[in-house]
Amino acid sequence: MRDAVRPVSREEMESQRELAEQIRKRPDRPRTYHIITYGCQMNAHDSETLGGMLESMGMNKSLERDEADLILFNTCCIRDNAERRAMGNIIFTKEIKKKRPELLVGVCGCLAQQEGFAEKLRTRYPHVDFSFGTGEIYLLPQRLLSALEGRREDAFQRGEDSTLYEGLPVLRTSPFFAYLNVMYGCDNFCSYCIVPMVRGRERSRDLREIVKEAEALVKDGVKEIMLLGQNVNSYGTDLGKARFHDLLHALSDTGVKRLRFMTSNPKDLSDELIREMADNPAVCLQLHLPAQSGSDAVLKAMNRRYTRDWYLNRVRALREAIPEIGLTTDLIVAFPGETEEQFLETLSLVHEVRYDSAFTFIYSPRTGTAAAKLEGRIAPEVATDRIQRLIKAQDEITAEVLHSLIGQEALVLAEGTSKRDQKQLTGKTARGTACNFLGSADQIGQIVKVKITGQGSNTLKAIQI
Ligand code: 5AD
Ligand code: SF4
Repeated sequence: MRDAVRPVSREEMESQRELAEQIRKRPDRPRTYHIITYGCQMNAHDSETLGGMLESMGMNKSLERDEADLILFNTCCIRDNAERRAMGNIIFTKEIKKKRPELLVGVCGCLAQQEGFAEKLRTRYPHVDFSFGTGEIYLLPQRLLSALEGRREDAFQRGEDSTLYEGLPVLRTSPFFAYLNVMYGCDNFCSYCIVPMVRGRERSRDLREIVKEAEALVKDGVKEIMLLGQNVNSYGTDLGKARFHDLLHALSDTGVKRLRFMTSNPKDLSDELIREMADNPAVCLQLHLPAQSGSDAVLKAMNRRYTRDWYLNRVRALREAIPEIGLTTDLIVAFPGETEEQFLETLSLVHEVRYDSAFTFIYSPRTGTAAAKLEGRIAPEVATDRIQRLIKAQDEITAEVLHSLIGQEALVLAEGTSKRDQKQLTGKTARGTACNFLGSADQIGQIVKVKITGQGSNTLKAIQI
């Protein structure tokens, strides 16, 4: 067990609240803000927190980027395309600023957490006003105030990587669905992955804090909570107390109707967790279990620390305990040195597991990771061909899985009306599949019983029963 990371002190949080109050009273403060979010659910949730903090400083959300007084980019750097997209848009704000020099531009998130990035922004992009990393969200008031006061060095300061903070205001995007962080960071060091470098070491939140937050959410009308962590299965190992299955157990006592969680590393998927998932009625029949590859040699080079056999064994155990479970995954093709035979093993894994759906990626080298130094880069046309074959195989399986669900009953949390047809409600089944059915607006936020009658390419059609 490592020394647990101590949460940021109450005094520090209090002093940030005071700075927020100072900003709120300033006549030159921005009145409206617009946050642009890239990347995963962690970032989506961080943006909800950033929104909550900005509102507490007296600002209102602007739906239009070009009208906001403050534009904040919450960036991702998991693959080159995510990074390039963010940088392109950050650079473009220079044009908006030419017309509206009072505009403030901030950059946060995973790119901003990277070593040397804040310095690069400060020196090369004078139109950017402030920056802070993923571990420094609570410092937003300090960075913003520095920007308003023209203290550029302070506005781009870089602090600690592995902080843990509690009690920041959150502006949720949905009244009945909420994200809840259970842990931050990752210690796995998969050889392709930048996350440990930009989200810091693994640190679990105290179980009581998590339960307290969940209780408040339930009281507020939240029906479904998505627990977030880079590797939720190792929750608690740094604290040496409760583990993830204990946490799930404790959370079901809050009365929350639905619990989902991501992401699970297959190497840490314990029998206790599978049992808890099977026994706990609040836990949805869904698991995202990234395999990354079906080849033992590639898994080894990726430093995933499990084999194809181990993975398939976990899938078997899950399906034995929870026959109706919907599995989804992440897969990377064209890892350095991946041969056609090794790729075919990934393809055969997909056929063997029969996932509900899969996120497929072409390997993207990330500076600072072990794999970036590997030889054997795969030619782009080979990588594209592989990903296309993989997507085609998964699309066929998805269609077959959806087809097999027709005729079954399901419970759907009605999230809103369908974009195409206002009379159709849309939501997710416990298995995690999007489902559309005829309903009325007053049912939004309720869990509705339906019978599945048909399928689209990634969705189910149903009628209420
Ligand atoms: N290149 C391609 N895909 C990556 N992922 C993570 N790092 C990389 C990379 N360097 C994928 C993995 C992970 C998902 C979030 O992104 O599949 O599970
Ligand atoms: Fe999420 Fe990783 Fe992208 Fe950060 S780098 S936003 S943790 S996917």
